[in-house]
Amino acid sequence: MVRKNKFGVKIYDESSFEKMSKACKLASKTIDYLKQFVKAGITTKYIDKMCEEFILKNGGKPTCKGYSGFPASLCTSINDVACHGIPNDIELKDGDIINLDVVVEIDGWHGDTSKTFAVGKISEQHQNLLRIAEEAMNVGIESVKIGGCFNDIGRSIEQYVKKQKGFCLIPKFCGHGIGQNMHEDPLVLHFETYEETSTIEKGMFFTIEPIISCGSSNVREMKDGWTMVTKDNGFAAQFEHTISIGHDEKIHILT
Ligand code: MF3
Ligand code: CO
Ligand code: CO
Repeated sequence: MVRKNKFGVKIYDESSFEKMSKACKLASKTIDYLKQFVKAGITTKYIDKMCEEFILKNGGKPTCKGYSGFPASLCTSINDVACHGIPNDIELKDGDIINLDVVVEIDGWHGDTSKTFAVGKISEQHQNLLRIAEEAMNVGIESVKIGGCFNDIGRSIEQYVKKQKGFCLIPKFCGHGIGQNMHEDPLVLHFETYEETSTIEKGMFFTIEPIISCGSSNVREMKDGWTMVTKDNGFAAQFEHTISIGHDEKIHILT
């Protein structure tokens, strides 16, 4: 059973949590499994093949495959690609950074998570980029409180990132509600807004997934209609978790 709060955000009942937890656990196991293939000489197409096989073998389905025509089971975003990179035949090389973003469906429920990895040895600036991107997500997660609102998340991430010299948020991409669809209301902004945002309540599922750039905060879309690249080709990194607000009044990281 699902109802909506006055902001139109779905409130799921207790029985949904076990199902979400299953999908999210498999999503996170998938990223852990794929980590071993992140090395120089491997193509993202190969990682995608390993991803699809692993998800299917474990009783799930790759949500992204076929979603609005997306051709693969995960997004592989390398270096200046901020997000939505399509797996291809180019080999990873030492010094690259790569984000793997996977969404898994089990019995109609979706779990969404991503991590950015270093390929071999990366520069100190890019090491800092990965650390700041992960910390930005964690700062957002720590700001989540029952009775608070989504603006608390955006404000805390914005304040954290503004203190990091040489790094900025890419504001175009947001977190989102999730559950029986990959993308549900609300949009979870990673910066403060002056519009009223929904309260955070028991029974909600949503993601937090700020993208941090060490170059421009603007992106352009490549001709493939998916790949988002930073305007000045500075590197970008992202980490993402799916969170639940439990009926036990606790905040759970499901992925
Ligand atoms: N995983 C992305 C997100 O975090 C969405 C992927 S878009 C798709 O929301 F087309 F690849 F599915
Ligand atoms: Co994702
Ligand atoms: Co997401």
